[in-house]
Amino acid sequence: MRIDILSAVPELLDSFLNHSILQRAQKNGTAQIIVHDLHDFAENKHRRIDDYPYGGTSGMVMTLQPVEKAITQLTKERHYDEIIFPTPDAPTYRQSIANTLSTLENIIILCGHYKGIDQRIRNHFITREISIGDYVLTGGELAAAIITDSIIRLLPGAISDETSALTDSFQDNLLSPPVYTRPADYHGWKVPEILLSGNHKDIDEWNMQQALKKTKQIRPDLLSNDDAVIE
Ligand code: 6GU
Repeated sequence: MRIDILSAVPELLDSFLNHSILQRAQKNGTAQIIVHDLHDFAENKHRRIDDYPYGGTSGMVMTLQPVEKAITQLTKERHYDEIIFPTPDAPTYRQSIANTLSTLENIIILCGHYKGIDQRIRNHFITREISIGDYVLTGGELAAAIITDSIIRLLPGAISDETSALTDSFQDNLLSPPVYTRPADYHGWKVPEILLSGNHKDIDEWNMQQALKKTKQIRPDLLSNDDAVIE
C-alpha cells in the first residue's frame, strides 16, 4: 500500500514514520509512505500556501493552487482510491474505517493548517473527511499520523504476530481483557489463577468475560453499537 501525505510541516511526520512498526513495514515493502512539502508546489516567489480569509474572520486559510498542483501531479502518476482530509468538522474515525482503508492500494492524506483550507479544495478533491475526536489540534499532521499508523498495522507483514491486529480492542466492539507477564507473584500481587491453568478453553472464556465486563464499565456505548467491521 502507498500513502502520500501532503503537509505544510513535513518535519512533524519524519520521526514518527521512521520508527518501529511503520519503519519495518516500509523496509519490508509492506507500505510506502511519502511525505510531500506543500511549499514545493507553490507557484509564487515566497512559496506561500496560505492567504487571508474572505469575509473577515480571523486566521489564515490554505490556498487552492499548491494543493491542486500536488494532487494533480500525484493522480497523473497513479490512481488513488481515496483523498482524505483530516479535520475536526467531520465524522469521527473508528476501527471499521481503518479496516476499510487498509484494503486500498493508494491514498493521499492532505494535512490542513492555519484556520482551514479553502472549501473548494474539499468540494473538488477530497473524497473522505475524518475527525480523530472531539477536540482541536493545531494541524492535521498528528491526525494523519494516527490514521496512517492505524492502517499500516493492519497490513499483512506489518506486525510479526498476524493474529494480534485481529484481536485488538474494537475489532469486535470489545475492549481488550487485561494481560499479565512473569513473575506470577510480585509483592503478593498475583496473576489470576486461571491464566496459569493451561486450559485454553477456560482461558478464552475468561478473557471474553473480562473483555465484556471492562467494556460494560468503561464504554457501554460500544455494546449497543452494531457497526459493520468495514465501512
Ligand atoms: Cl483531523 N484535525 C485537527 N486539526 N484537529 C482535530 C482533528 C483533526 N480531529 C480532531 N481534532
